[in-house]
Amino acid sequence: IHLATPAIVAVAPAMNQAMWAHAASVANISMLQERGVRIIGPDEGIQACGDVGPGRMQQPDAIVHNLGSLFQTGRLAGKKLVITAGPTREALDPVRYISNHSSGKMGYALAEAAIEAGANVSLISGPVAIAPPERCQFTAVESAQQMLNASLEAAADADIFIAAAAVADYRASSVAEQKIKKQGEQISISLEKNPDIVATVAQQTDCFVVGFAAETQDVESYARDKLARKNLHAIIANDVSRGDVGFNAEDNEVSWIDADSTKVFSKRSKAQLARDILEHMVNHHKL
Ligand code: PMT
Repeated sequence: IHLATPAIVAVAPAMNQAMWAHAASVANISMLQERGVRIIGPDEGIQACGDVGPGRMQQPDAIVHNLGSLFQTGRLAGKKLVITAGPTREALDPVRYISNHSSGKMGYALAEAAIEAGANVSLISGPVAIAPPERCQFTAVESAQQMLNASLEAAADADIFIAAAAVADYRASSVAEQKIKKQGEQISISLEKNPDIVATVAQQTDCFVVGFAAETQDVESYARDKLARKNLHAIIANDVSRGDVGFNAEDNEVSWIDADSTKVFSKRSKAQLARDILEHMVNHHKL
């Protein structure tokens, strides 16, 4: 059947690490790849025999995800997009944290639109109340540091990185091990700067990198400043001083800003806006 089928053929190997490393396996896998067979995995880890190393079959949901990307069509088919969404939470003690009002709706809408357009999507999300889209690689994180680690890992082989997350700029200099007790009338908490995720991805990867700029005044000029300072390909300026758009709203109104142009997207649902943003990105930047 394999020799006769015109279908795309994919193999998800599962074997002991020494078998996977054996010259016979290396040559056979390479021959299969030359003949167009797609190899999914294998993963690394503890094996049934107790050995540790590469050769574990990928998890079934990862295999399904990878198979899906072989059959997708659309403007972003064959592209890997990494999207960050939602807020980060920076712990102060075991029961309290610093965060913000991001609901994740904008980032999740971008993930849905990218999947719809055929992309292989990794969604990295802070804590939100919405279910992740099906057919994406989903990583749940809490802190900015965790979001940075997940972003760098996912972006290493990605084509496009879109940072819709509202990342806390600062975290507590030290996280109290026990609940902080009520003291006098005032309390001071020392904060230190978090890593800048989108700037680090722009610096360390070959991705086309798009940031968001959430501003309450001088929206375009602050956004342009961030575009340059973080060395991004484009930035989406979002006025978050209004209640009907921005944080936690169903709709949004933004401007796409790059080195030589500005495109205004008037108010519309986040789902529609996400589709329109991706279409503009693909057309305008020939991605
Ligand atoms: O989630 P919703 O409720 O739908 O709301 C959507 C949104 C308003 C959160 C979204 O549209 C938005 O504007 N996201 C960016 C929020 C933000 O943190 O903006 P900023 O101007 O502070 O940061 C600029 C860019 O740097 C952003 O792409 C941000 O993800 C990134 N950043 C910021 C700080 C940091 N330490 N690391 C970062 O990567």
